This record gives sequence, structure tokens and C-alpha cells, in this order.
Amino acid sequence: MTLPSTTATVGTDTPIRIGVVGLGWFGTMMAEQFAANPNVRITNVCDRDPARSSELAAEYGIASHTDHRALLDSEALDAVYVAAPPSQHRQIVLDAIDRKVHVLCEKPLAPTGDDAAQLHAAAVGSGVVTAVNFPLQYASVGVGWRQRRSERFEGSLTCIEILIRCPLWPRPYQNVAWVGSRQEGGPIMEIGTHFVQLIRSLYGELRIVDAHVRWPNDSDRSEQWALARMELSDGTPVVMRVVCGVGGDESVSITCDGENGSLAMLEWGQLSEARPGTPFRTSNEFQPSSVIDEFCSVVRWGHGSIVDFAEAHAVQTVVDGLRQGT
Ligand SMILES: NC(=O)c1ccc[n+]([C@@H]2O[C@H](COP(=O)([O-])OP(=O)(O)OC[C@H]3O[C@@H](n4cnc5c(N)ncnc54)[C@H](O)[C@@H]3O)[C@@H](O)[C@H]2O)c1
Repeated sequence: MTLPSTTATVGTDTPIRIGVVGLGWFGTMMAEQFAANPNVRITNVCDRDPARSSELAAEYGIASHTDHRALLDSEALDAVYVAAPPSQHRQIVLDAIDRKVHVLCEKPLAPTGDDAAQLHAAAVGSGVVTAVNFPLQYASVGVGWRQRRSERFEGSLTCIEILIRCPLWPRPYQNVAWVGSRQEGGPIMEIGTHFVQLIRSLYGELRIVDAHVRWPNDSDRSEQWALARMELSDGTPVVMRVVCGVGGDESVSITCDGENGSLAMLEWGQLSEARPGTPFRTSNEFQPSSVIDEFCSVVRWGHGSIVDFAEAHAVQTVVDGLRQGT
């Protein structure tokens, strides 16, 4: 067995050797991005489904595995990207840290705050870079929102609103069983996690004031409806409404109102901004950054903008609270 080496790429421009675990919707899409990015080289891929793994491995001319431990042990690799379902992250991440392999894990870090705490504890002092992919951090909407926040565009904050309206859950474009499960899926876990992270990164701590969740009779199924009131540390209210299994169109948004202006992400789009009494205008001027480039920068040079396990654990604690209700 060749032990993975994390030293070869430190302080150099050598591409980071990365293995990909979990080749579903998101893992396949990220594998394409890795293949197109000169900062990384995909060395091997892994999926429990052998056909899925061997098909992608053949496309890239690399090794295929069905067990993540075989991937981690197969050859020298610097990092692993984890895009298996959330309940699988824990063991894969622990095995990677154990082998001193850097980790870029998909959100949510784990399906519960307790699991996230365990992964955070394992990361501390391990010497490996551990990051979670929260794409809004890198998307132009997140870049733009941070810029406007630094300019104090909104002025004194009035209210933040989160809306997650999904007539069909799971949504047709991510229609896999775990997404509809109570254990590791549901709109709060799958979508709310993004918004909790974005709000925390822009405005700081979020405290739950009260949260109400309606679960279906089938104990395996995710939530149908949720209504929660949170607040920022300065008392600004943050309200969240989640509704599934209804009529109408899918609608997902986050809106922040302030005395001087409003900022919003509407339907996963660009940053929308408006002064009081005027309609939203979409800003196309902000360039996205790249989670791959930032992760590589931290591995190579020790600096870059990543969401670490401490923050991902804090996000998961809020998500846990929202799901548990008050
Ligand atoms: N960052 C984002 O915007 C974003 C968007 C969608 C999904 N995600 C996250 O990405 C992850 C995967 O989501 P998805 O929609 O691609 O799911 P998916 O179900 O489409 O794909 C998961 C894949 O992992 C494989 N798998 C399951 N257990 C495994 C294991 N132990 N080892 C190896 N492979 C295993 C499955 O066979 C499947 O191919 C989730 O954590 C999800 O929340 C993130």
C-alpha cells in the first residue's frame, strides 16, 4: 500500500491529486470541474454503484473503486472530494483524515450536529485541510452580497426572509430517495443549510427564537412545512417559511431589507438590489470565485477562502434546531 502524501504539492504549483467519492448528480458535475481545472488532477473515482464508477473512470482514463477505503489507499493522493449522501460523509471523512488526506466535503457536513461535531473534532490538529462546499460562498450572488455588505448598502437591517417553496419534494432534478428521507434529506437540510451558511457568513450568529415543523405520518419522510423565527445578534429578525407538496411554482429566495436598501437572491439567481420604493435590479457585475481554486490555495499555500469544519458544524447546529422545532 502506498501511503498518500500531502507534502508533494505544498508550496508548489503542482496539480493537487484528488479522488472523488460519490458520482451522482453533484459528484459527476464537480468531477467535470476538477477535470477542467489545471490546479487539480483527478486520480481515481469511487461509487457504490460499480457501473457508475467504471463509466466515469473510463471517461477520464483513471482508476475506479466501489469502496472509499480502496480509493484512499490505492495511490498517493493529496485530497478527496466527498459527494456521497450526507449520512455517508462521516465515515469517509474520518477515514481520509486518518490517512492524512485533505478533504473537500459536500454540504451538509453531516446529517446531525453531533456527527458534525465529531468530524470537527477529528479535523482539529489533524494537519489536513478540511473544507465544506457551500457554493453560495463562491457564486457571484455571494461575492456581490459580501461587497454590498462591506459598503453598508442595506444600512440598518430591518428583517431577513427565507422562502423555500417546493411543490414537489424531492425536486424532479434531484429525485433520489435519500433527499426525501427524514434521516438525511428534506428541504431544511438540503436547501436551508445553504441559506443558514450564507446569512452567518454575511451577518454573523443566528439564534432560533421559535421553530415549528410539520412531519408527515410516514416516519421515513422529510418535513412538509416549517415556520421559524430566528434573530441575529443585534436582534434583527430572520424568518423562514418552508412548504412542500402544494400547488404553484417552485420558489426559493432569501431577502434582506434594510433602512437604506434591500438585497436578495431570487430563484438561485444573481444578486438583486433595490433602494427603498424601487424595484429589484439584478447585478451581473460580480465575478464568481471557485471553491476548487480556494481549496487548492489553502492546501498549497495555507491561505484561501474556504468554509471550514468549525463553521460547517455551527451551521449544522442551527439546521438541527430548525428541524427539531421548539
Ligand atoms: N453544493 C451544492 O449545491 C449541492 C447540490 C446538490 C447536492 N449537494 C450535496 O452533494 C451530496 C450528493 O448529492 P447528490 O444530489 O449528488 O446525490 P446522489 O444521490 O445523486 O449521488 C450520490 C452518489 O453517492 C453514491 N454513494 C452512496 N453511498 C456511497 C458510499 N458510501 N461510497 C461511495 N459512493 C456512495 C451513490 O451511489 C450515488 O451515486 C449531498 O451531500 C448533497 O447534499 C450539494
